[in-house]
Amino acid sequence: MDSNNDGIGDFKGITSKIPYLVELGINAVWISPFFESPNDDSGYDISDYYNVQKEFGTLDDLKEMVDEFHKNGIKVIFDLVANHTSSKHRWFQEAIKSKDNPYRDYYYWFDKPPFDWKSNFGGSAFEYSPETGQYYLHSFAVSQPDLNWTNPKVREEMKKVIDFWVDFGVDGFRCDVLDNIAKDWEKGLMSNGPKFHEYVHEIFGRDKTKNLYLIGECWSANEDILCDLISEERGELTASFLGGNVIYIDWNNNKISPNYEDIHTYFSKYQILAQNNNLIFPPFFENHDRNRSVSSLANDQDLRYESATFFATLLYTSFGTPFILQGEEFGTTNSYHKNIDEFNDVSCINFYKENKNVLDNHELMDKVNFLSRDHGRRPMVWDNSVNFGFNKGATPWLALHSRGKEINLENDLKKEKSIFNFYKEIINFRNSSKALIYGEYNDLTTSENYYKFSREYEDEKYIIICNYDKPSLVDIPINGKKVFSNYPLNQSNNFAPFEIAIYEI
Ligand code: NOJ
Ligand code: CA
Repeated sequence: MDSNNDGIGDFKGITSKIPYLVELGINAVWISPFFESPNDDSGYDISDYYNVQKEFGTLDDLKEMVDEFHKNGIKVIFDLVANHTSSKHRWFQEAIKSKDNPYRDYYYWFDKPPFDWKSNFGGSAFEYSPETGQYYLHSFAVSQPDLNWTNPKVREEMKKVIDFWVDFGVDGFRCDVLDNIAKDWEKGLMSNGPKFHEYVHEIFGRDKTKNLYLIGECWSANEDILCDLISEERGELTASFLGGNVIYIDWNNNKISPNYEDIHTYFSKYQILAQNNNLIFPPFFENHDRNRSVSSLANDQDLRYESATFFATLLYTSFGTPFILQGEEFGTTNSYHKNIDEFNDVSCINFYKENKNVLDNHELMDKVNFLSRDHGRRPMVWDNSVNFGFNKGATPWLALHSRGKEINLENDLKKEKSIFNFYKEIINFRNSSKALIYGEYNDLTTSENYYKFSREYEDEKYIIICNYDKPSLVDIPINGKKVFSNYPLNQSNNFAPFEIAIYEI
């Protein structure tokens, strides 16, 4: 929400929409980075950890926003980008000056690239720095040099950053690519090196940080590493996004072939792991790096309501802490754009540049639309007024959603089958049920066509059935009373595509 009509969403805009979030029923928000940054990677390239970007407002506006969330019972989580800074950060600007600059060792330097590591955003992960004739490491964009975590000064700096925001009033951090802070130089791996747990414990195993909600982004962590990382007694993290990509993506053929069995395996495996080891599982389908689940995994046309509510049910009946992305709560789809100027994501723009002379324009733009992380970043579409209510008419920082006229919050709320209302109801249902929050999870699935499981706490028990994309005959519990569904009138066991039902036992 852009409160001052300059085209950019801002703190005051968010603050003005807190009542909307209260109505939805959520109790925490994670806000992606808003610190000072040249914005080469949507703020994941920080040039000053202690300041905010002017276009979002002032530190006072941010404080007002955090306080207002707190008054409304909503906790606030900021993004902590600890693996790299922007190349515009003072530390890097100093470091490039000379080999004996005091900040030189804040980053990694090599006479020659030691490995053929690729950057996550294309090209080599090593960049030549002409000032001193050495290479530095960047796991992401060229303008995002990796910090040298083997240097104790870097770890001290990061503790200071964390403490500054804790004093400011934040309730926790989402820790960006945290496993990348520790490289495995022996094995030549970019993440999860032998010092990983030590570093995490050093920054988060302190009195000052012990009450924070700390969620890592650690894609390389396997089950054992996760158990260590988030077990309560070790003083590392509270939770971690895990399990790799739920979405089955065929990058070469521009195709996403939803494999519902994979979703079932993911949800089941990690709920059981979490339950057996007393961990927190944070299920999610969407975030600012992904395309929209109704488009990529289900049906974003005539079964959009059914698809969106199918995902909502999986999330809010699971043993864990679900995360949703702005717009997911009313079934936002992918957005399609013909012109590269309508994109902002550095990874898809790099891809465009690399392939401009290789692919024909149509094919190229199809790929860009497919790959782009902008699906999760476009301005929120609130209503049918100018710029869909994002602001009062100034050109938005990123092109508006191509289906904004059809799919926006106002239109959704007018419908009998409102996705927002379904979300609101299921969140409310979950929040009032000990079985859905704490209850034991058991996988009861016996068919390839649908996912069936139970949640049980003392004498409260539910059986949940989520049918996949084809009509199926499901095995409904004989002693169950249907208390929740996205096809409320159906009393038979013949389930339609994406039909879900919750039975009270
Ligand atoms: C993961 C973040 O989610 C993504 O948006 C960002 O580009 C990279 N980390 C680099 O910070
Ligand atoms: Ca603004």
